[in-house]
Parts: sequence; structure tokens; C-alpha cells
Amino acid sequence: MDRSALEIIGGHGLSGHVRVSGAKNSALVIMAGMLLCPGDCHISNVPQLEDINNMVKILTALGVKIEHQGSSLKANASDIGHSQAPYELVSKLRASFFAIGPLLSRLGVAHIPLPGGCAIGARPVELHVRGLRAMGATVLIEHGVVKASVPGQRGRLQGAKIYLDCPSVGATETLMMAATLAEGKTVIDNAAQEPEVIDLANFCIAMGAKIEGAGTNTITIEGVETLHSAEWSIIPDRIEAGTFLVAGAITHSEITVGPVVPEHLTAVIAKLEAMGCKVLKEGSDALRLIPAAAYKAVDIRTLPFPGFPTDMQAQLMALMTLAEGNSIITETMFENRLQHVAELQRMGANIRAQGDTALVTGTAALSGAPVMATDLRASAALVLAGLAAQGKTTVQELRHLDRGYERLDEKLRQLGAKIERVELPLESEGQAGAARSPA
Ligand code: EPZ
Repeated sequence: MDRSALEIIGGHGLSGHVRVSGAKNSALVIMAGMLLCPGDCHISNVPQLEDINNMVKILTALGVKIEHQGSSLKANASDIGHSQAPYELVSKLRASFFAIGPLLSRLGVAHIPLPGGCAIGARPVELHVRGLRAMGATVLIEHGVVKASVPGQRGRLQGAKIYLDCPSVGATETLMMAATLAEGKTVIDNAAQEPEVIDLANFCIAMGAKIEGAGTNTITIEGVETLHSAEWSIIPDRIEAGTFLVAGAITHSEITVGPVVPEHLTAVIAKLEAMGCKVLKEGSDALRLIPAAAYKAVDIRTLPFPGFPTDMQAQLMALMTLAEGNSIITETMFENRLQHVAELQRMGANIRAQGDTALVTGTAALSGAPVMATDLRASAALVLAGLAAQGKTTVQELRHLDRGYERLDEKLRQLGAKIERVELPLESEGQAGAARSPA
């Protein structure tokens, strides 16, 4: 149990502008994409996160030379010799599986430990594996390791027509990267359309890849012999931006958030406005959140982009607990992404969850309590609830939060929140769980 925790005194308004960092889910996959290039690549606006640090370790273990300072990351993957990512690193970071496509394309072989499940679900990778097999790879899974290789002399993947059973972000990204150096044309049908997929495609195009259709459900890649050096700046993190918009709404504060790409937040903005907020464009790349005195209940169903993002479901639920009326949330993307319900209930929220659906009945106020974070976005939801709750909320298990949010407590403090990072005394370990019956 990590003893670091956030102590939040609720009920304080926020004001000012909060800066949004680069997108975690773009930076991680683009870092894997740097393996495709036998030369220098430089990416900027990289968020400073635990996940990024772990990805640097994994790339270094694969033989990539990396210079990582702040939000700048330079890499040279000209002599990657190892095709085996170390288990102890991979087990900490699912995104390390993104290395399989580039390693297979560059070396004709890749041994990557099978990423396990995580708090929110089983997180299978059979769509990645099936697509690589369609491109001519032999893929075996032995003792928890995915062993992929390309038979034949040149060991080069072949272009293929691939249909994804579901528009998986990761599978789309793995197969798009693998196809950049394959022989011939690859078409990915039912591809994911998330902005992070587009950012990866644009980075690969900057390296000389021939990719069309990123952002639509059909992506076409013409394989090339090799890629060249490129510079790239990571897009702003739409989920971090959305989280801050909810922070303004839940504390009834007018704040500005940026940089953002408004089109990346269409679904989130639509729901916040349906609840009573106003979200206005501010300058060229920021948004202004104007809160409502009281919020209306809305229903949400998480869907692949451009539908409502699953990564914002927990944060909106926190706001819904204080809306007037009943909201229904249906989580269709992951099988176990309602764990924040139990913790919000500890704060007085009136929520009934069954299967993938939660019924949220708004209440007049939440009360601060010690709570336990279970996954990245659940952690954010608990922080947001703590900002609005009466009294003190202590959010434990910050390792989840630090994986995906750059200095969230500091950024909120700069907006006026009463939030401090503390080290809990030993005897308090499990305090948040005190109310729980033994497992
Ligand atoms: C990416 O995960 C993001 N992570 C997730 O963000 C995000 O929630 C998710 O996309 C959906 O938008 C990164 O980009 C690093 P998927 P990914 O493959 O690629 C099923 C966060 O909080 N599926 O689109 O793993 C899968 O089980 C994280 O920042 C298969 O069945 O998501 C899930 O139900 C959490 N077989 C659905 O597809 C496969 O082979 C969507 O998963 C692959 C996926």
C-alpha cells in the first residue's frame, strides 16, 4: 500500500487558467512508434508521468538510445538488437505491448510478455495477434510471452486486409505501425477513430510512412522500405482537459482550460452543456467553463470515438452525484470500470450499480471521507468529488493517479483548490478500507 495520499478540503471555488499537458495515450504509442525509425526522432510536449518513465526504461532495454528531459524526448533506434521486453517492466505498463508491431517490422521477431488484465478489465490482445498473423507473422503464446516472428529469408510482413471485430484503439495502432514497413498494402477496416490514432498516424507520416484514412473507420497503409527521422509534438490530453472542465463544473467555478483541440471533446462538451454548463471557445486553443447553479441529470453510454469516452465516465459520474434527478451511466467498453461507485457511495453519493450500468440519483451534497483509488480515472473522480464534498477527503493509492495525470494536485492548487499531497502515518494504512468487510 503506498502511503502517499491527497488531502482535499472541499467547498472551495476555483479560478484562473489550467495548462493541459500532452496526451498520455498518444505519447506512449508514439514512443513505441519511434522503434520504427533507424535514426534520430524527437518528440515534444510529452507529459511527465510514471507511465512515460516506464516506457523509457522499456525502450532502453530494447536498445534504443534515449535523452529524456522534461517534456522533450529524443530517441535513436538505429541498432535495436533485443526483441525481448523485460517482464518486470512490461508487467508495470500495458502500453509496452505496442512495441510488438514495430519490433516485428524492424527485426522480423518480437517476444513481448502478454500484458495481463488490469483493474478495469481483462484487456485481451487477440485482435492485435490475429492482425499480425494476417500479415504473415507466426505468433505463439508460450508461458505468458507472445512470440512473434516473420518466416522466410527477408522476414518482412506482408500487407493484408484486416477487419477488427471491435474498433480497438490498441489493435488499430499496433497493426498500423506494423503495416508501415510491410510489403504491399494493408487495409484496416472498423479501425478506431480516436485522436491518438490520428496523432500516431501523423507521426508515422512525418517519418515517411504512407497512411491514409486515419480518423475514419478505414485506414490504408502502403508499406515502404524504411522510415526516416522526424520531429513531432504530442497533441493535448483531451481526458485531462475534460477532467479539469468537470473540476470547474463540480465546484461551480468559471475557469479556462488549454491547450485543447475542441473537436476532441465534442461528446464531453455536449454532456456538460446538457447538464447546464456553458463551454465556450477561449482564444485559439482554450475552453472557458461557465458553471450552472444547479445541474440537470443526463444519461451517458460510453462508446468508441466520437462517442462518449470511457476515460471520462468516472469523472462525469462524480458530477452527476450532485445533479437534480436520475442519471443512467452504461459502461460498454470495459467490463469492470464502475469500481469508483463504492468509493463515491462512501462520500454519500446515491448510486445503484448492476452489471455495466449505474443509476445515479443526485443528492444535495457529498461528505468528505477517506477513499481508496482503484484505477486511474476512478482516482480522478474521487479527487473531483473531494473538491465539492463538505469537509476533508483523503484519496489513497495515488500510484494510479500518478500514472496518468501530470501534477494534478499542483495544477488544482494553482486554481485555488485546498489540496495537499501527504504521507499517511503507518497506523492509518487501510484506514479508507476500514469500513470494508474483510474480503
Ligand atoms: C486505449 O486502451 C487507452 N489506453 C485506454 O485508456 C482507453 O480507455 C481505451 O483505449 C478505449 O478508448 C491507451 O491508449 C494506452 P481498446 P486499449 O483496445 O487500446 C476490447 C486510460 O485511462 N479488445 O480500444 O487497450 C477491450 O477488452 C486508458 O487512459 C478486445 O476484445 O483499448 C475493450 O473492451 C484506460 N480484444 C475494448 O476492446 C483486443 O485485442 C476497447 O479496448 C483488444 C481490445
